[in-house]
Amino acid sequence: MSKLLITGRQKLEGKTVVQGAKNSALPILAASLLTGGENVIFNCPHLSDVEASSRILRYLGCKVERSSDSLLIKADGIDRFDIPDELMRSTRSSIVFLGAVLARTGRARLSFPGGCEIGLRPIDLHLKALRKMGAEIKEEHGIIECSASSGLKGTKVVLSFPSVGATENIMIAACLAKGTTVITNAAREPEIADLADYLNKCGAEIYGAGEGVIEIVGKHRLYGTHHSIIPDRIVAATLMSCAAVTASEITLSGIISSHLSSIVPVFEESGCVIESKNGELKISSPGRLNSMKTVRTMPYPGFPTDAQALLLASACTAVGTTVFVENIFENRYRHTAELVRMGAQIKTEGKVAIVEGVPMLYGASVEATDLRGAAALVVAGLSAESNTEISGVDYLERGYENLEVILSSLGAKIKKI
Ligand code: UD1
Repeated sequence: MSKLLITGRQKLEGKTVVQGAKNSALPILAASLLTGGENVIFNCPHLSDVEASSRILRYLGCKVERSSDSLLIKADGIDRFDIPDELMRSTRSSIVFLGAVLARTGRARLSFPGGCEIGLRPIDLHLKALRKMGAEIKEEHGIIECSASSGLKGTKVVLSFPSVGATENIMIAACLAKGTTVITNAAREPEIADLADYLNKCGAEIYGAGEGVIEIVGKHRLYGTHHSIIPDRIVAATLMSCAAVTASEITLSGIISSHLSSIVPVFEESGCVIESKNGELKISSPGRLNSMKTVRTMPYPGFPTDAQALLLASACTAVGTTVFVENIFENRYRHTAELVRMGAQIKTEGKVAIVEGVPMLYGASVEATDLRGAAALVVAGLSAESNTEISGVDYLERGYENLEVILSSLGAKIKKI
């Protein structure tokens, strides 16, 4: 098990490129199952979750090869419709393979993803929509068995919550359905629009992705294409937090500033100055941050749940009190106990965390228990007096490509042991 060692309170400076988005890459890899011919996915981050999805693709019969930052996928040879339990458990987003396998083969057998570190992660919305599209679905002993022997059919789906994964699963499945599918109250995340861009390049006909109503006209077949993954807005928020807590000025390049529209104002409220133009964002920290008053997580374009832990870690040393309200996942304050070990003053109750800023955090031995919680501990470690040792950093590798290398290149004292 690797650990990260951080000696805090070093100023960061310089410029770094933001990696491709994990949450785009994973559904796009699953969606490649629908295609014949060759796909080349550029800017595909090196992450353990991407590796896990590649293993699923290979198990199903696809050819997957990595060459530097791109992934070549050929899905012509699919000869399976099942995904074994150990592969399903290897990445939390494996459920997005359900719609793809079902649409491509007319059948799917996979295990129920179950709960995870940040919450229960039910899939009722996914299954309800696929049933409405004509799939027969049996759920027994943790296995989901689906069939649509005469194909899926287009239909109207109204989501009771704009679930990202459900929107992706339905959109992918609908690409090969007979007729038109309309998803109302669809998730509007930029990663949904990126998935639709990829699918449209493959010959799909998807309108409105990135908005609340998405229309998908079903096609007989899709073809491989070349596609470049959008930059990761949560990695951008992570690096912004690292600069904010270390009184630093850094520049992020390769970003799409509109994707950060709910994140930037929170940093500005904390006193950071942010300039963004031509795909670059410069953040300058004022030194000690101001509190951010109230941060509520919401579906996009609201403040993302994935950035909550990062801003919470930043709020620990701010002047004043910041209140966080986590509206998306029920179990997303686990890292706060570790922050308290570092001297933070945080009270949590249900959806709410109250962070009373203290002048300084102190290095400690802490343990990460989920991906963004791990990143929050890195932010805290960078701001803390003396040394912080973070265990459980495998979580970090699910979503961050060489975070410690990037931070070192910006001047942080951080190393993996
Ligand atoms: C995706 C992201 C994750 C992000 C989350 C919310 C990927 C790979 N992961 O996760 O990083 O934190 O969106 O922005 O893209 N729900 C149900 N029933 C369902 C589906 C979801 O009740 O069938 C609930 C969930 O329990 C949760 C909420 O809806 O409370 C949001 O979940 P969802 O948007 O589906 O998140 P994911 O797609 O799992």
